[in-house]
This record gives sequence, C-alpha cells and structure tokens, in this order.
Amino acid sequence: MQTETSVLVTGGAGFIGANFLLRMVPKHPDTRFVCLDRLTYAGNAMNLRAIEDAANFHFVQGDICDTALLGGLFEEHGFTSVVHFAAESHVDRSIEAPLAFARSNVEGTVALLEAARQAWPEDAAGAGDRYRFVHISTDEVFGSLGDSGQFDEATPYDPRSPYSASKAAADHFARAYFHTYGLPVVLTNGSNNYGPFQFPEKLVPLVISNALDGRAIPVYGTGENVRDWLYVKDHCAALEAVLRRAPPGETYLVGGDSEARNIDLVERLCDLVDAVEDRPEGYSRDLITFVEDRPGHDHRYAIDFSKLEAELDWQPEHDLTDGLRATVDWYLRHPDWLEAVRDDSYRDYYARQYSEA
Ligand SMILES: NC(=O)c1ccc[n+]([C@@H]2O[C@H](COP(=O)([O-])OP(=O)(O)OC[C@H]3O[C@@H](n4cnc5c(N)ncnc54)[C@H](O)[C@@H]3O)[C@@H](O)[C@H]2O)c1
Repeated sequence: MQTETSVLVTGGAGFIGANFLLRMVPKHPDTRFVCLDRLTYAGNAMNLRAIEDAANFHFVQGDICDTALLGGLFEEHGFTSVVHFAAESHVDRSIEAPLAFARSNVEGTVALLEAARQAWPEDAAGAGDRYRFVHISTDEVFGSLGDSGQFDEATPYDPRSPYSASKAAADHFARAYFHTYGLPVVLTNGSNNYGPFQFPEKLVPLVISNALDGRAIPVYGTGENVRDWLYVKDHCAALEAVLRRAPPGETYLVGGDSEARNIDLVERLCDLVDAVEDRPEGYSRDLITFVEDRPGHDHRYAIDFSKLEAELDWQPEHDLTDGLRATVDWYLRHPDWLEAVRDDSYRDYYARQYSEA
C-alpha cells in the first residue's frame, strides 16, 4: 500500500463495500480503515463480523449527508484516502422513491467531497500518491447499448433511471472537484456485480433465495436484457489497484468480460441450485415467472475495460461459470444470513412489486 495510513470507506456494510473491507483490512494491517455506514435496509454490520475486532478497523454508524459528523471524523482520523461506496443502489426503489437517491447519492457525495476539500491541502492532487478520493460509480450512467458495441471511458452520459441519474450527477460533482479544486479524485464505473453478501432484492441472490424456497422467480419482460456480470471479488481487486496506483483525475471502467442475457443467467442459477439440492432437472426453471418490464429498462450494457488492463494491469480472474458456482455455494452455506436480511419490509416490498405476477 502506498503512503496512506487512514482510509475512510463509506457504505462498507453493504455488498461491495463489505467485500472490499474483508479483502483490505487483513491484507494491510498498518493501514487504518474506518467504515462509515448509515445501515439502511441494504447495509448490515454482520457482513463485517470477520473483521470487527481487527485492530486496524473501526465502524461508525452515520450518514454521509451529516457534514458535522464528516468534519469530526476527518479531524479525528486524519484520512488520507476515501473510498466512497455509500449510495442507494436499487433501480426499482429509485423509480418508487427518487428523492432518497438524490439525497444520499448526490447530496451525500458532495458532502463527502467537500469534507475532503476542507481537510486536505490545496495542492492535494499534486502531493504524489498521498491523497486519493475513489468515487465508485456504475456503467448505468451511460444508458443503453444496441446489440453491438461497448461502453468505454469516452462514452457520453445518458442516464435513464432515477438511480443512474443520481449516480451521473454524483460523477459530475466528483470530476468538478478535481478540475475546480484540484481534489485528487479517481472514478470507476463498474458493471453489474454479483457474489457474497448481496442483498436479495438484486437479481442473482433473488433467484438463488427464491429457488431455494420454491417461490416464484420474477424475470422482467422476456429476459432478453444483457448485462456484463462482474464477480465482486474481481471488482474489489480493481478498486485496490485504482486506490494504490491511479493518477488523480482519471476514470476507469470495470467489467467482467461476461455478457449474458438475464434469462440465460437465471436458468444457469436455477440449474446450479437444483444440482446442489439434488432436485429433479428443471425443478427451479418451472418457478420462473415473467413480469411486466421495468419502465425505461436498459437493453444492454457491455464494458471495454482495456484502459484498466493496460494502465493498472488488472483483469477479471473469474469467468461466469466459476463466479456463479462460488456465489451459489456461498448462499447455500449461509442460510442464516439470507434469513436475517430478509426482514418484513423486504417481503412487503416484493409482495407489492410482483403482486400481479
Ligand atoms: N451492485 C452493483 O452491481 C454495482 C455496480 C457498479 C457500481 N455500484 C456502486 O457501488 C456502490 C456500492 O454498491 P452496493 O451494491 O454495495 O450497494 P448496497 O446497496 O449493497 O450498499 C450500499 C451501502 O451504503 C449505505 N448507505 C446508503 N445510504 C447511505 C448514507 N446516506 N450514509 C451512509 N451510508 C449509506 C447502506 O447502508 C449500505 O451499506 C454504489 O455506489 C453503487 O452505485 C454497484
């Protein structure tokens, strides 16, 4: 690790943030990691159980919009890096309640950028590798592709859901802080992640948990939408490389080199669950239920990550076959985790969402 000694990780009790902390805390014992998380429905302190007693880890429950809290934390811990995951992250929820996305994703990001600007020297971007603000974003800011082509770092923004619009606005603020104030910001736009600790409203864990319970498996439209699936541990390795070596002001796209139609992904997951549970062939596929498509549902995302490969020597280590197998295996070995996070609000939400199915 370079010279940073104290890293603020926001949203570290959520899916990708927890995987990142579980990788980084044991690997860098001389670096202090402070996790700031509001613990919304998507965040869970039990995701961090394996590191909660580590001497170089500290957890703070709080909101990234709380400017007084942020100022106090920067003063107390002297952060030299920020890795910013905290966000409302579910597109369906953004369609129901967009204001929460404007608040956490836009206002929260600006509050964090401002806290770093106040705490760090004016020439922080010129201070070698000492200071970094890694802003984690999504490929959804680029909108939708046709049947061919890929997004790259030059693709213009065209967000089409309240979620992607809020992430796009946050990205613009992050770049503005680099250009206007010289804050050493680096951006990443990652594709759809999957893996351990993902809240079961997202497609992969939803399919696994519903298949396990013998419940209907909802698929939007005809399931033709294509996503580039990125195993979360590969994403975290990319983020570590970006934190350590990316020059200020740069943007990197992160993809899994694993394009798949939703329906094909769902069928593969059904077959994996059935194989492990020793069920008859096709048992879980029969649970697939096509539901009315999401409004503004993007057709296809695909990622050209050659810049990250060429400049930071990163490429995904898991293909879809390995990654899905490891993921199904993890959820099957952690039924207590699934039970604990599937509380009443989640059940009500999905009862409403798919009531017509
Ligand atoms: N999941 C994906 O496929 C994917 C892909 C690319 C980029 N991203 C981005 O990566 C980041 C993490 O995504 P995720 O899937 O882990 O999300 P997640 O929903 O699983 O976790 C988000 C975390 O942020 C916390 N949080 C939300 N609002 C907060 C606030 N106001 N203050 C403090 N904490 C708050 C939540 O409690 C939760 O722990 C997000 O910025 C997301 O846009 C996600």
